Amino acid sequence: MSFQWKDRYRLGIEEIDGQHKRLFEIGNEAYDIAMLKSSYDRYDEILKVINSLIDYTEYHFGYEEELMKKHGYNGFDEQKKEHKFYIDKIRSLSERDIDEDQQKAILEILDFLAEWISSHIIFSDRKYATFFKENGIEV
Ligand SMILES: [Fe+2]
Ligand SMILES: [Fe+2]
Repeated sequence: MSFQWKDRYRLGIEEIDGQHKRLFEIGNEAYDIAMLKSSYDRYDEILKVINSLIDYTEYHFGYEEELMKKHGYNGFDEQKKEHKFYIDKIRSLSERDIDEDQQKAILEILDFLAEWISSHIIFSDRKYATFFKENGIEV
């Protein structure tokens, strides 16, 4: 099942963990709507939830980037690149025609987005969390 929060995603930074959970919630909502048989009749609804996914993801990435910049995190450029890639990928969803043929494609992209954000948290975000911890930076 896609967009399911797992305890191993926890970084131990309360605000960030909360934002990650919220991202999964919105992603899950998008997945639920896209799964419905009549989803191609629900263009507005799907678009709305995809737009909130874009908005919230941008907010979250911006928040992280500010934090990394503020504390001189050395993996900042890499994170920024990954974030941009991801936002572009979500945007590609809202540019699709949502009809019956597209339902499968949308679900596949949502699966990809769920996989990607999970490994981004586990590998990339965890690195800055460790960096903050090792350098005694309280966030
Ligand atoms: Fe993150
Ligand atoms: Fe990140």
